[in-house]
Amino acid sequence: MHHDVVVVPGGTGNVGEGIVRAFLLAGATVVVPGRSQERLEKLAELIGPRLGDRLIRLQAGYGTFDESTELAEEIVADRGRIDHVVLAIGGWWTGKSLWQVSDIDWQKHFVETTTSHLAVARAFVPRLDAAGSYTLITGFAAREPYPQSGIISMHAAAVLMMREALSVELRGQRRVNSLLLGPIINRSRPNGDPSWLTRDQVGEAAVAVALAPSVQDESLRLGTVEELERELTRMRA
Ligand SMILES: NC(=O)c1ccc[n+]([C@@H]2O[C@H](COP(=O)([O-])OP(=O)(O)OC[C@H]3O[C@@H](n4cnc5c(N)ncnc54)[C@H](OP(=O)(O)O)[C@@H]3O)[C@@H](O)[C@H]2O)c1
Repeated sequence: MHHDVVVVPGGTGNVGEGIVRAFLLAGATVVVPGRSQERLEKLAELIGPRLGDRLIRLQAGYGTFDESTELAEEIVADRGRIDHVVLAIGGWWTGKSLWQVSDIDWQKHFVETTTSHLAVARAFVPRLDAAGSYTLITGFAAREPYPQSGIISMHAAAVLMMREALSVELRGQRRVNSLLLGPIINRSRPNGDPSWLTRDQVGEAAVAVALAPSVQDESLRLGTVEELERELTRMRA
């Protein structure tokens, strides 16, 4: 992992923070693009100066095809390579049944987030190092509907299928996987059931996936620390 370049779209978020920290701890250089300078600065503060010298913050969007292409080109020009990409884009939303959602809700929680995922895949997958990996983060909502959060489930299901479509199209040329997460303990929700993963444990899983050549075309279910430990043992074997 030393000298690897890892890009984390969504690295400024609650789950992304743990992914960024874990790759920095593993010795990688981590590039985090984000739309808001304030959120990027907050991330640097959370990571701290000890690890922060390998954290590259870029105030840049990736919500459109053009923005993502420009971002990927800039990273390749600056860093010379892209080894791993881990996406923790978008968050939770609740409040309305499917027949009540507004045009704005739909744009924000389905169209924009789903478009960002495709824009990043389109720009980064062809530029990934041959030994690299591409990992999508999504939640149980991809497979389970929750009342008043239907558009989040629709987005998550689309992301999960995107991973499967990428897998059949790439046919082993690149490793593509997804992590299916349950509730995560993070800076916005510091307390929760002790069986839940923390953001840093999600990071540990993402690093293990990036490091394990045998993990390919998988959707790893990580709802509890017990499930995480089982997967870590398998991946590190
Ligand atoms: N938190 C949990 O308990 C949990 C549980 C299961 C699954 N997950 C999954 O983990 C992922 C991240 O969740 P999170 O809780 O970390 O969310 P979050 O704190 O709201 O962070 C969202 C991140 O996505 C980025 N982003 C880029 N485009 C976006 C868009 N159009 N709309 C919203 N955000 C956008 C944001 O970047 P900017 O800095 O540019 O705003 C931010 O870094 C999601 O896929 C979520 O389903 C989370």
